[in-house]
Parts: sequence; C-alpha cells; structure tokens
Amino acid sequence: MNTIIKKTDISNIDMSVIDLAAQILKDGGLVAFPTETVYGLGADGLNENAAAKIYAAKGRPSDNPLILHIADEKELERLVKNVPDVAKKLMDAFWPGPLTLIFEKSDTVPKGTTGGLSTVAVRMPEHPVARKLIQASQISIAAPSANISGKPSPTSGQHVIDDMNGKVDMIIDGGEVGIGLESTIVDVTCTPPMILRPGFITKEMLEDETGEVAVDRAVLEKPDKDLKPKAPGMKYRHYAPAADFVIFSGKKENVINAIVHNTICSVEAGEKVGIIATDENIGIIRNKTSHIKDKVIIVSIGTEKDMETIAGNLYKVLRNFDKTDVGQIYGETFANKNLGQAVMNRMCKAAGYNIVRV
Ligand code: TXA
Ligand code: MG
Repeated sequence: MNTIIKKTDISNIDMSVIDLAAQILKDGGLVAFPTETVYGLGADGLNENAAAKIYAAKGRPSDNPLILHIADEKELERLVKNVPDVAKKLMDAFWPGPLTLIFEKSDTVPKGTTGGLSTVAVRMPEHPVARKLIQASQISIAAPSANISGKPSPTSGQHVIDDMNGKVDMIIDGGEVGIGLESTIVDVTCTPPMILRPGFITKEMLEDETGEVAVDRAVLEKPDKDLKPKAPGMKYRHYAPAADFVIFSGKKENVINAIVHNTICSVEAGEKVGIIATDENIGIIRNKTSHIKDKVIIVSIGTEKDMETIAGNLYKVLRNFDKTDVGQIYGETFANKNLGQAVMNRMCKAAGYNIVRV
C-alpha cells in the first residue's frame, strides 16, 4: 500500500491535509494522527470493516478493544447507554484531555470495535489535529496507539512512519507529542470508579474531583492467570524494546552499583549494553564504566525532579535503542506515586517485569 505522508504545523493546521484525511476515514480507510498523549491509528469506529483494518495493520489481538475519540460530548448520546454522575464530573474536569472513560455501550457501537465487550472506551482528545479531524470527518474515530502491537507507543511522526509506512492509507506528521504516555483509563461502570491504566491524569487528580477511586490490582502487580487486568490490552507484553530490559529498584547507591556491575558482566559476556539513567546518576555511571565505553550506550531519561519529562522521554528512549545493536538494557526505577505510577506501569511491562530489588 502506498501511504500518503503529510506534515502539518500544529499551530497553523493545513486544512487540506485534514480534509483529505477525513475523506479517507469516511471511505473506511486508516489514518494515523497525533494526539496529546501518543499518535493514534484511526478508522471509523462504527464501521466494523474499517475497525478490522486497524487490527490487521498493528498485528493486534482481536479481543483487545479500541478507544473511540470524540470532539463533542453530544456524540456520547449515540455511543453509550448512560452517563453516570461520576463520569460527568470527570468529563467536566478533564475533557478534552488525556482521560478515557469506560461506559456501557449502546447498540450502535459494533462488537468488532469493543473486542466483544458490552462496554466501550471513549476519550475526547485535546490535540488540535485530532479535534479537527474528528470534526471534519464527523466520525467517532476508533484509535489505538499507532505502533506495531507490542512495541513502545509512537510519540513522534517519525515513530509512526517507522512502524506503519506501507500499512496505512495516510500518516499526519505533527511532530512530537506533548505527554508521551497513553491516556489514563477509568471504568465508570463500577463504584467507586476504577483506574484500569494509569496515565497523566493521576489517581490523586481524579480523587480531588470525585472522592475515592480504586486501582485495578493488575496495574500494580504482575498479571497472571489469577490476576487478569480489566483492560484486555494490559495483559499483553507491551512497550517492549527489542533488547532484554532489566530495571533495578532500591537505594540510589545500590541501584547505581547494580547497573554498573551488571553492565560490566554483560560486556564481559560479549553483549553490547544500553543504560537508561537520570541526569542525577548519569555522570557517576559514565565514570564507572568509562573503561568499557565502546561497548556501552548511556542515555539520559531526564531529571528525577521532573516526572513529566521522564514520562515524555520513555518511549523515545526505548525506541532509539531498537536502532542500535545493544542486546541488553539496564535502567533505574521511580517512586510509584502520582505520575510515577504511570511511568512505572509502562516500565514494568517494557521490562517484562524483570525488576531486581537491590
Ligand atoms: O492515549 C491513548 O489512550 C491513545 C491515544 C491514541 O488516544 N490510545 C491508546 O489506545 O492507548 P490503545 O488501543 O493502545 O489502548 C487502549 C487500551 C487497551 O489496553 C484496551 O484493552 C483498553 O484500552 N480498553 C479499550 N476498551 C476497553 C473496554 N471497553 N474495557 C476495558 N478496557 C478497554
Ligand atoms: Mg497501545
């Protein structure tokens, strides 16, 4: 397939690009586009055949449901059975923005979009390209992250081109996204509402609006046959770089020593090693591995004082390692609170739960 790739400046959106993309969506095609969280791979969410193409392009398991993207709360009327009061409060506070809500679905939404479930995920993105595309097409756009299934989500147009060129009808390249982690998913069909996937909108922020919010246990612990995540997509290995990825948690000094020690061992075993470090620790790790520097690639993920930067850099750093010949990656862990909860959730999955306490 020949993929049309169009760049647009997000502060001065080229409407001819939006109109072309809207027409492709109306014709049942696939368009990748930027949102404020990660890039999405969009199709008409109410057209089962169009939605099926998303699964084929991503190589995504068919039981993994899609999020519908809307630009106006009125669109909810045709998509969901009812809007609970708690959902209204969260919508008022966080829409448009990086929050996805799970509702009972209406009969209009095909089960091909919801992976056979009777619920549907809906989000109102804030990104101007996403909003204009929804408005121009008048479509509730089903859009998962625009990566090949299992890979880190794309946070730049180039990431999408790397994964999807030749597999989709069009890619709108709006440069780098702002947040860099997927939206927070909250199930509002239960009481109290429950976080199924942590994100930029944290538990603390949600609780300020609604009172108690639960967290799916599978978000915090390693899912297994007895602990199934309520968001089907969270059970798959995900966000994973090609190399083996191990993360260390514990006292700062122990973590640094463990990274250095394991790096030296891996290099001695013939491996090239990648290290993901914070600005605070990168200098000392570089010093202690300077004698093997030709075999080690050390990258900064940002300062531990600014979780937003770390969240925004995580997928880019993991994807960049896929372009190198490292066979092993070592990294630090972060405090599991506020935005750190979303970062740790993604890091644990990317590392296949290879977390070593030191
Ligand atoms: O930020 C985001 O949410 C991005 C952008 C493109 O909007 N989208 C995204 O979609 O991350 P995706 O498909 O990569 O992740 C959607 C997650 C999956 O884990 C899926 O299982 C879950 O949402 N999900 C979708 N519908 C659901 C439902 N009805 N019940 C429970 N989980 C659901
Ligand atoms: Mg995804």
